[in-house]
Amino acid sequence: MLDGKRILLVIGGGIAAYKVLELIRRLREQNASLNVVMTRAAKQFVTPLSVASLSGGKVFDDLFSLTDETEIGHIQLSRAADLVVVAPATADLLAKMAQGLADDLAATLLLATDKKILVAPAMNLRMWLHPATQRNVATLQKDGVLFVGPEDGDMACGEYGPGRMSEPAAILAAVASAIEGDTRIALLPGIGRFDKPLAGRRVVVTSGPTHEPIDPVRYIGNRSSGRQGHAIAAAAAKAGAEVILVSGPVTLPDPPGVSTLHVETAIEMLAAVEAALPADIFIATAAVADWRVEAAASQKIKKSDTPPQFALAENPDILALVAQRTAGRPRLVVGFAAETDHILAHAREKLQRKHCDLIVANDVGDAMGKDENEITLIAPSGSEPWPKMRKDEIAARLVRHLAQMLKDRPDA
Ligand code: CTP
Repeated sequence: MLDGKRILLVIGGGIAAYKVLELIRRLREQNASLNVVMTRAAKQFVTPLSVASLSGGKVFDDLFSLTDETEIGHIQLSRAADLVVVAPATADLLAKMAQGLADDLAATLLLATDKKILVAPAMNLRMWLHPATQRNVATLQKDGVLFVGPEDGDMACGEYGPGRMSEPAAILAAVASAIEGDTRIALLPGIGRFDKPLAGRRVVVTSGPTHEPIDPVRYIGNRSSGRQGHAIAAAAAKAGAEVILVSGPVTLPDPPGVSTLHVETAIEMLAAVEAALPADIFIATAAVADWRVEAAASQKIKKSDTPPQFALAENPDILALVAQRTAGRPRLVVGFAAETDHILAHAREKLQRKHCDLIVANDVGDAMGKDENEITLIAPSGSEPWPKMRKDEIAARLVRHLAQMLKDRPDA
């Protein structure tokens, strides 16, 4: 993905600097070539020796180094890159960038470069939310600086909120998107909780399995945990949408800020979805049972000499029915393709057969019940693999992606 791409990585001085070692490792795995600049404060958190060992190159830190200047020169360092990445981008570095200060090597390079800059902010939430930082962020966005994160989360200082640096996998994905020139995916500015790209939108999400009764105590079901669907509902609510989550039987708590409707069967799920429409976006993550027992027994079936036989009836395809509505079709209809083999081919076939705008394909053999998932987005215009990420990270990124898709549509 990043074969031979030259990245100038500027490491700022924050506790999140330790995560940058993992980012360096992952960039090297992708065959990117790296020059690294550390600020004076960064060296308090990670040592130049660790950075140099992992990056396979020299670490630059001195604006006035005669050796460095004769070997490469700070202007050349800033130009001989395909992308400049700042991680962690501290409040101080963002302020310097917004002001155009050049009082150390990192700031000078950031001012002297003619290349795209991607920043991964990391700081205490009060610092992030401070009007001064928000002003600087707005200025930098106007200047075309790309942002990945920050995320909401636990802080090293014991508080919770926006300001946590994005995980290395998300930064890596943002680097790839920035290099490919596709700034729609990971690079929407993360303005923490002030970033409400779905404000004023209504989103309906299905999640979890369905249980199709055989008798009062037995059912047909599947292993879906509902984690990905619930995470998407939570992320859409955080992005400002009004969210209705139609959930099959799961053991997860209802996500905050979301209206959750609990159902058991596919038929109940369809009815709840139809009642929740109209919506701007419909996201079908539920693992709906394809069949139900035609005539479920009203009493518990007793064991007898011969095993019982059940006639099965096909369940309604909720996703296909919503996507094919003529009146009141959501502007974006998104399906998931849970596959165990030939993932992309099956997903493409589902995109067409179910008339969706987007299919999120994943290998369920790998993902069910786990915290991480590796997905590929499949749209009529092409596909886009995402690196392995936590399900909540996928949810946040997918929500931003959908917000952008809505914005890009002429009928939005
Ligand atoms: N889906 C749905 N209603 C159904 C079956 C599936 O809404 N009765 C949705 C799922 O929520 C998912 C997508 O359709 O978004 C694909 O689900 P999947 O089970 O992978 O597809 P199927 O159509 O059931 O195909 P198959 O089981 O043959 O892979």
